[in-house]
Amino acid sequence: MILIKNAQIVNSIHDKLEKVDILIVDDKIEKIGKGIEENPNKMIVIDASDKYVMPSFTDIHCHLREPGFEYKEDIKSGSRSAAAGGFTTICCMPNTNPPIDNRAMVAYIKYRAKEVSPIEVFPVGAITKGFSGEELAEIGFMKEEGAIAISDDGKCVMNANIMRNALLYSKDFSIPVISHCEDTNLSEGGQINLGYVSTITGLRGIPREAESVIVARDILLAKETKAHLHITHVSTKESVRLIKMAKEWGVNVTADTCPHYISLTEEEVLGFNTNAKVNPPLRTQEDVEALIEGLKEGVIDCISTDHAPHHKDEKNVEFNLAASGTIGFETAFSVLFTYLVEKNGVELGKVVELLNQNPRKVIGLPPNVIREGQKANLVIVDLKKKWEVKEENIVSKSKNSVFLGKFLTSYVETVIYNGKILKKDGVLNC
Ligand code: DOR
Ligand code: ZN
Repeated sequence: MILIKNAQIVNSIHDKLEKVDILIVDDKIEKIGKGIEENPNKMIVIDASDKYVMPSFTDIHCHLREPGFEYKEDIKSGSRSAAAGGFTTICCMPNTNPPIDNRAMVAYIKYRAKEVSPIEVFPVGAITKGFSGEELAEIGFMKEEGAIAISDDGKCVMNANIMRNALLYSKDFSIPVISHCEDTNLSEGGQINLGYVSTITGLRGIPREAESVIVARDILLAKETKAHLHITHVSTKESVRLIKMAKEWGVNVTADTCPHYISLTEEEVLGFNTNAKVNPPLRTQEDVEALIEGLKEGVIDCISTDHAPHHKDEKNVEFNLAASGTIGFETAFSVLFTYLVEKNGVELGKVVELLNQNPRKVIGLPPNVIREGQKANLVIVDLKKKWEVKEENIVSKSKNSVFLGKFLTSYVETVIYNGKILKKDGVLNC
């Protein structure tokens, strides 16, 4: 039994805040109320005075690297990193080796996750066989086996006819298509956003249209096929505008952006910091503002981390040769709190929706709610704590965080999944 005392629960923007106690028995929330009797011999008592309690988080886009790239991350280390950040449901991308592009691979990821992961892991299947962009993968079989979505993330499906067919099939099998929008004819050889910083540094730029022309294409394809298109890691203001238009048009489109796109700009790259090399690239302040506005308005539905671990040797090289990606699980909530709530006046309940209800809706999972009778999946956060992101505190196998050395406000202290304490007072025990 676990008793959380003096909890201020935030399920969504509609919650009114009052202090209550939460009693957890086995895997469920047994009781929520004032003055629940405490029995230290029978229960673990957690004092949450001055803290906030919210449903644990869901990430619909991350990279766990298993099989094939276990030197960067594996299902166990990635899941522990996710748990440390308050995530208890994550969806892992199929750009592994071999890729997750068939039924057996989906089964394998699920089996491994069951064996080693303290949290819930859903595999995302590939759109095309071997990420070739040429031949569709076995979408129906993958869905039957438990794939939650399909995506060739990391690569764009450049052939519009293949993408159209993928959308048609996905509709028949009721599975969303997660699109990595990047016209590779426009982005080829590019390292960072095309603009001021690419001019200063001499690094080859990626034009913003590389993203938005594919966003426009996929919206049009989704309109005609009536399939569910999900656009991931949106980074430009033009994409936000197109998605807004598509929604007004009645297209079945949803979208996410990542903590780094709503907090940082291309200027991070001025010192040739390879941890700031991500794909799509960090853009400009105007884009950051448009993305935040998009989140506020509901044009962008949710946040995903795009947790993309890479080994030191893949980042400690010349900028042109460095791998793209930043890890993201362990800083996600704190970045959102710092940059959305503190700096931009977004309500805390909105952040909870961006990390819980909304991503779950995108992939067809019921919301996680803190209510009597529900599974005990929750986090306790300290909203006042200021901390510096330091390599030695990172749980993930890889340390390539673009936030290293930055100070963030708020910290996920305690994480409970199905009544089990995965992290308590900042200490991970899973
Ligand atoms: O920066 C990125 N890294 N963007 C992607 O789309 C793929 C990811 C990876 O797999 O490393
Ligand atoms: Zn991607």
